[in-house]
Amino acid sequence: MCGIVAYLGQREAYPILINGLKRLEYRGYDSAGVALMQNEAIVLHKCKGKVADLEELCRDKDVSSHLGIAHTRWATHGEPNDKNAHPHLSENGKLALIHNGIVENYLVLRKELVRRGYQLVSDTDTEVVVHLIEDIYKNEQVDLAEAVRLALVGVVGTYALAIISAENPNQLIVAKRGSPLLIGIGDNEYFIGSDGAPIVEYTKNVIYLQEGELAILSLGQDIVIKNSKNKAQRPYLEKLEISLEQLEKGNFEHYMLKEIFEQPNAIKDSMRGRINTRKDMVSLGGIIKYEEKMLNAKRFIIAACGTSWHAGLVGEYLFESLVRVPVEVEYASEFRYRNPIINEDDVLIVISQSGETADTLAAVELAKAKGATVIGICNVVGSTMARNTHAGSYTHAGPEIGVASTKAFSAQITVLSLMALNLAHKKGKIPLSQYHRLISDLEAIPDKIQEILMQNDYIKEIAKFVAQTSNAIYMGRGVNFPVALEGALKLKEISYIHAEGYPAAEMKHGPIALIDEAMPVIVLATEQETYEKVVSNIQEVRARKGKIISVVSKGDTLVKEMSDYAIEIPLTEELLTPLLSCVPLQLLAYHVALLRGCDVDKPRNLAKSVSVE
Ligand code: F6R
Repeated sequence: MCGIVAYLGQREAYPILINGLKRLEYRGYDSAGVALMQNEAIVLHKCKGKVADLEELCRDKDVSSHLGIAHTRWATHGEPNDKNAHPHLSENGKLALIHNGIVENYLVLRKELVRRGYQLVSDTDTEVVVHLIEDIYKNEQVDLAEAVRLALVGVVGTYALAIISAENPNQLIVAKRGSPLLIGIGDNEYFIGSDGAPIVEYTKNVIYLQEGELAILSLGQDIVIKNSKNKAQRPYLEKLEISLEQLEKGNFEHYMLKEIFEQPNAIKDSMRGRINTRKDMVSLGGIIKYEEKMLNAKRFIIAACGTSWHAGLVGEYLFESLVRVPVEVEYASEFRYRNPIINEDDVLIVISQSGETADTLAAVELAKAKGATVIGICNVVGSTMARNTHAGSYTHAGPEIGVASTKAFSAQITVLSLMALNLAHKKGKIPLSQYHRLISDLEAIPDKIQEILMQNDYIKEIAKFVAQTSNAIYMGRGVNFPVALEGALKLKEISYIHAEGYPAAEMKHGPIALIDEAMPVIVLATEQETYEKVVSNIQEVRARKGKIISVVSKGDTLVKEMSDYAIEIPLTEELLTPLLSCVPLQLLAYHVALLRGCDVDKPRNLAKSVSVE
């Protein structure tokens, strides 16, 4: 949510900042801006729209500078327009600030600043911070870094921010609480990013700023890091675990398509080193220390949001079928405010691609406070979730840039499958033959996805029909029900067609009233225990003239004959079906969105990492 990039060094800052903003644009794209230090003065350019609009705005301007901060915004407070775009300037124009997060007490701070005569020009929560810093700097006889620290003591909420001052043209100050911020260390130069994407091109040496820390970066001087109590902290250098190639689109038209096609490899990477060659042991190194807790858990609670929540629902089937321990799947946003009953022998599993989703992180803290064990499944190495959970397993799907989550979903299900298999085997809950069969089937998934991807052109044809409609229904049963929800979410978020997912049998309890000849019904009718029941559900839809697009197992004839379009997927163990059945639905949503002229990678109103409540 919002992208932050900054540079201080010997190079030209502007190209680094613009390039960085483009790499971060998936985090928010309703406005963008840059503040550059030029001859001991701050020059500001910002506008509504995408980074390309900012580039256009700056086309004929002098942008030479060696210090700058830049921002791409996902609006929370104040509509997306020029004046609300970051950076924000202090009243005397000598300070510029960019911010990611939310200042919860901004109204109180704003009132106080207005009382003191400050004129705020935007509707944002951020602007108060820069005025507050100026006020302290002017009145308290402290240096800028201390003014920033003191101002942040008065801020309630979350932030990752970067500040420059015309009085210190060779200094950059950054601070973090609740939103990620990385400092890339070059040769007497610093690169700042709200994730590694804008940094990796220049250096892999990074410092992940910790909660409440503030860093003072000055040319020709060592980095100074302080905590919120003004105590110096030792910088801890880490290696960025992403490559530039992973951040590029390659030959694909969109990141989303690239990421759908990356799934065979993403799943292989999720399994890599976790299944031994004799297939008699699954082990997840990251959770070994807490495995005993997991084996003795009386209950698993899975908390997540959006697509990750759908993966959690698949996890419920996996854990309950294999491990035979009760599972509850919770929307993290509801869980945190429900005063839930959490016991010390509960294990909370949180799932997140970004590892920065505010609600999911709040669930982590809540469960930890109640003494439960918290296990994370996340994709971004070094993310807040990875740091704040007791233990966890990375999905290793590689960076996911397309706003609609695809490969992260299948990688999450892969990790959940491995976890469930490991626990079920160690608890003696499944026969060895089933354990081995499931492992073999899991290992065969990447090749089977490859087969499905070969139907891309056929799915494009089906998309022509769906693209003309304004509603769609997705139906599935059992382990395919969460896939129906996920298919519907994919379609609505990128094509803006209203879509709903239902457990197929629920149709006649209400939603069937929606069916007419214009309604596409996408049915997951693969070989599974409830296959016959799904066939009946399809008949009910057909009787009302609904159009059937089915996802069936290879060799199926019955449902195929009943369908207007049928997509075949290879056979696998029922519990692993979601890893295959999700793929055609991702491709369908992609092609429908493309046909409708939508910006697939940057759907309206959305941003990749929802780090605010
Ligand atoms: C949908 C999508 C979102 C995310 C949700 C959680 O395609 O991307 O629904 O799944 O915002 O994000 P993470 O997984 O980063 O916690």
